Amino acid sequence: MINDWSPETWREKAIIQVPSYPDPEKLHSVEDNLKILPPLVFAGEVRKLKRSLARVAEGEAFLLQGGDCAESFSEFNANNIRDTFRVLLQMAVVLTFGAALPIVKMGRLAGQFAKPRSEETETQDGVTLPSYRGDAVNSIGFSEKDRIPDPTRLIRVYNQSAATLNLLRAFAQGGYADLHKVHQWTLDFVGENPATKEYQNMADRLTETLAFMAACGLNSETTPQIRETDFFTSHEALLLNYEEALTRIDSTTGTYYDTSAHFLWVGERTRDLNQAHIEFLRGISNPIGCKVGPTVDADILVRLLNILNPLNEPGRMTLIVRMGANKIESALPPLVERVHSEGRSVVWVCDPMHGNTIKSTTGFKTRPFKTILSEVRSFFNVHQSIGTYAGGVHFEMTGQNVTECTGGIAAITDADLSDRYHTHCDPRLNAQQSLELAFLLADMLKDNRKKDKTAKKTAINRGA
Ligand code: PEP
Ligand code: CO
Repeated sequence: MINDWSPETWREKAIIQVPSYPDPEKLHSVEDNLKILPPLVFAGEVRKLKRSLARVAEGEAFLLQGGDCAESFSEFNANNIRDTFRVLLQMAVVLTFGAALPIVKMGRLAGQFAKPRSEETETQDGVTLPSYRGDAVNSIGFSEKDRIPDPTRLIRVYNQSAATLNLLRAFAQGGYADLHKVHQWTLDFVGENPATKEYQNMADRLTETLAFMAACGLNSETTPQIRETDFFTSHEALLLNYEEALTRIDSTTGTYYDTSAHFLWVGERTRDLNQAHIEFLRGISNPIGCKVGPTVDADILVRLLNILNPLNEPGRMTLIVRMGANKIESALPPLVERVHSEGRSVVWVCDPMHGNTIKSTTGFKTRPFKTILSEVRSFFNVHQSIGTYAGGVHFEMTGQNVTECTGGIAAITDADLSDRYHTHCDPRLNAQQSLELAFLLADMLKDNRKKDKTAKKTAINRGA
C-alpha cells in the first residue's frame, strides 16, 4: 500500500478534460450510490491479467486490445457485444497461428463511455454548444439540454457495464469461445473475399489439429484451454469520480483495486505528471496503460514510469504508442532505446488509430486502412531494429459492418463513408477490415519469429 495515496488524493491536483457538473449535490449522491454497488471485476482476475501482461513484457505472449472508441447507450444490445467479441476471437486465433504464442484478449468494452476532446465546443450551422464527451457525461444530440453534463449517467454506465460483462463472461466461459466453434464464428454479412477464404483455410487446419489432439485424449472436456478463454476489460480512466467510487481494498492483499475494469489507461491529453489522472492511477494495483504520442520526451517518460511503476513490476505498465504513420519512425526509437537502457519492464503496444485520423473529402472523420497498416509495420520494424519486443496492438473496431475507415479488401471510399457511419466518436475498423489486419499482422509476427530464431542460431554458432 502506498502511504501518501488514497482513492481521493487526485482531488488535490489540477484536472483537465472532465465535465463541470451544474448540480454538485446530485453528483455527491451518485458517488454515494456507486460506492455501495458491487465491484464489476475481482482482484484475482486483475492479478491474472497482470501475470499475463508480465509474460507479454517478457516476449512470451502478445496482447490484442480492441473495441469501440466510445460505447453508447443507444447501440447497447446483445448482438453488438457478441459480434465484437467474436471478431476479437477470430483475430486472436489468426494471431495465435501467426505468433505461435498465447494471445491476451482485452476489450475496450464494458466501461469505455467517456471521451477527452480536442475542442471544448462544437459548432453546427452557426450554433456553438459544449462538445459531446461520451454517454457517461452528456448526450450526442445537438441541443443545449443534450450537452449539459448529467451525473446520473454514471449509474447507467455502471449498469450497462455490468450487463456487458455478464454476457462477455458467459461467452468466454460458457462454450461460445470453444475452439471447435472456429467455423461458426464467421460473420454472415462478410461474404466471400480473400480474408474470409484465408480464415476458412486456417479454421480447417485448426479443426484437423483439434481432431488429432482429441485422438491423443485432449478435448473440450479434458482441456479447459480448448473450451474457454480469458477475456479482460479496459477503458480510459477519465472520470475519476466514477473510478474512485469503484476503487476498493482487496481483502487478500490489503491494496486498492479499481474494480470498474481489469485494465485502465490514461489518455494522451491527461498524462501530465503533476495532475489528477496520474495521481489516481499510481495508487491502484491494476495493470495500467499510458498513451504515448509523438511529442513525448524520453526524460518525461522515465519520470512517468518512476511514478506509475516505482518497483518496476513486470505486467504493471503498458505503453500504448499512437504517433501516426509519418512520425513513428523518428519519434519512437529514442523512447524505446531509453526505456530499454534504463532496464524498465514495459509492454509496448501499437495504437495505429489515434495518430492517423483525417477528414475525408466528404467531410467524415476517417482513417485509411493503409496508413493504419503502415504504422503497425513501422512499430514492428523499430522494435526489430532495437532488439526489443513489439508486444501488442490496440484497435478501435467493431463486429458490425460499418463504413468508417477507408480502404481494405472492400475498398471503402470517401463516398461510401455515409452508408453506415455509426460511431459515437472516432472511426472504427469494421469486422472485415479487422480480420484482414489480423492476417497481415500474423505475417509480421511470423517473420519476427523467424528473424528471432535466425538471430539466436547465429549467436549460438558464434558461441555467444
Ligand atoms: C482513445 O483511445 O479513444 C483516445 C482518445 O486516445 P488518445 O488519448 O490516444 O488520443
Ligand atoms: Co478514439
